[in-house]
Amino acid sequence: MLEGFVRSNLRRLLTKEKSIVLERRIPLLERSFQDIEELGIYLHIPFCEQICPYCPYHKEIYNPDLARSYTDAVKKEIDIYSDLIGNRPITSFYIGGGTPTTMLHNGLEEILVHVFKSFNMQCDIHMESHPNDLSSDNLDTIISMGIEHLSTGVEALQDRHLKFLDRPYTAEGVKAVVERAVSKDFKCVNVDFIFALPNQTYSEVEQAGHALVEMGVDQVAAYPLFIFPYTEMGETANDKNYKISSILKRRKILTILEKIFYAAGFKRTSVWAFTRPGVPKYCSVTVPLYVGLGASGSSYLKDVFYLNTFNVAEYVRALGNGRMPIALSLDLSENMQMAGWLYWRIYETRFKRSNFKKRFGKEFDGVYGKYLKPLSLLGFLKDYGDEIVLTDKGTYWLHVLEDLFAIDYISKLWGKSKQDPWPKKVAL
Ligand SMILES: C[S@@+](CC[C@H](N)C(=O)[O-])C[C@H]1O[C@@H](n2cnc3c(N)ncnc32)[C@H](O)[C@@H]1O
Ligand code: SF4
Repeated sequence: MLEGFVRSNLRRLLTKEKSIVLERRIPLLERSFQDIEELGIYLHIPFCEQICPYCPYHKEIYNPDLARSYTDAVKKEIDIYSDLIGNRPITSFYIGGGTPTTMLHNGLEEILVHVFKSFNMQCDIHMESHPNDLSSDNLDTIISMGIEHLSTGVEALQDRHLKFLDRPYTAEGVKAVVERAVSKDFKCVNVDFIFALPNQTYSEVEQAGHALVEMGVDQVAAYPLFIFPYTEMGETANDKNYKISSILKRRKILTILEKIFYAAGFKRTSVWAFTRPGVPKYCSVTVPLYVGLGASGSSYLKDVFYLNTFNVAEYVRALGNGRMPIALSLDLSENMQMAGWLYWRIYETRFKRSNFKKRFGKEFDGVYGKYLKPLSLLGFLKDYGDEIVLTDKGTYWLHVLEDLFAIDYISKLWGKSKQDPWPKKVAL
């Protein structure tokens, strides 16, 4: 109850909105694209070989026939956007999931060729993968498709934690996979790591942190275990009585990881990620405005946020009938656009006042200046003139805020969209 109270008051303070409701409506896209100069593309591959009990992302079990129809549908969606986007440069391209490598030999290459044929691509490709898909031949295939930034979900490096997460490999096995990926010619290999697992000890975290550095990875994205109510873990958490780490324990674990990664020369490059110096960071779409392709893909244009249907069969059907697969949309007031911009830039741990002015034509300090002084006195951020940088302490409190907002919004929006392919409305 207290969480809900804090959430609605903070939201009101930042966005000036009493409520945020997404509705079943297809926005006027021609108008929204008019004054956009550059944008990013996110492509969702909604298939996995198995469903992990903690995972909130939209996916279903891989089926080769469905993947075939999905490929055709994504190409149709690309054709629609190609007319809308024209020659505007695409400056960020991310393939996420689910598990994109399920379609490595069944449709992925065809989609990539179509993307490059249809858009003015001015960027590298970043892609997620599952460790069990990373044989030496598959890694070569990934590179031959032009994918130079690769991420894989290692998640844990002790067998008992891998077992808890129901991951289908051992710690030794996954170490060998990561070393194989690192030995190939990628610009960046990122591994995902989940911490604050039930009964995880500090020395296990320490051991895993050192092992990640020794394996030679370029980047580690370390997330605390979030429990989403609509996942299998969320549904059984009470019965199984998981001992989830307290905020203080999470803070201590994060400090252990920060110490290990900083000592190895890594720098913090986002709220969750630590990257070796000189390596381009692995990340999801990096530009503020983007289009999401595929089932559950979400798009963020200047004045509108919208979301495709989550249901793969409905996504395929809509495009087969020549319709956009958009299920829900939300018009964004200027206050919401500014709050959204700030949230994502802070997520990258740094932003420039001049970029805010460029986007909104207003001085940053005129809108948010009154919060800067107290936050910098509390040691949450450093003000370098044009650039504002979040400190480690500030980053930690952003984690806490993330718990408060993102988990709640995701659970409402994704939870409802999973149940109903075309919801009438979803109130956040
Ligand atoms: C799409 S998955 C990664 C790619 C691939 N499907 C795999 O499992 O290896 C994205 C990442 O989100 C993180 N993640 C998923 N569910 C999470 C949760 N409940 N709490 C924290 N991190 C989570 C994991 O680190 C996971 O690797
Ligand atoms: S963690 Fe990865 S493999 Fe597991 S269900 Fe989620 S997306 Fe699929």
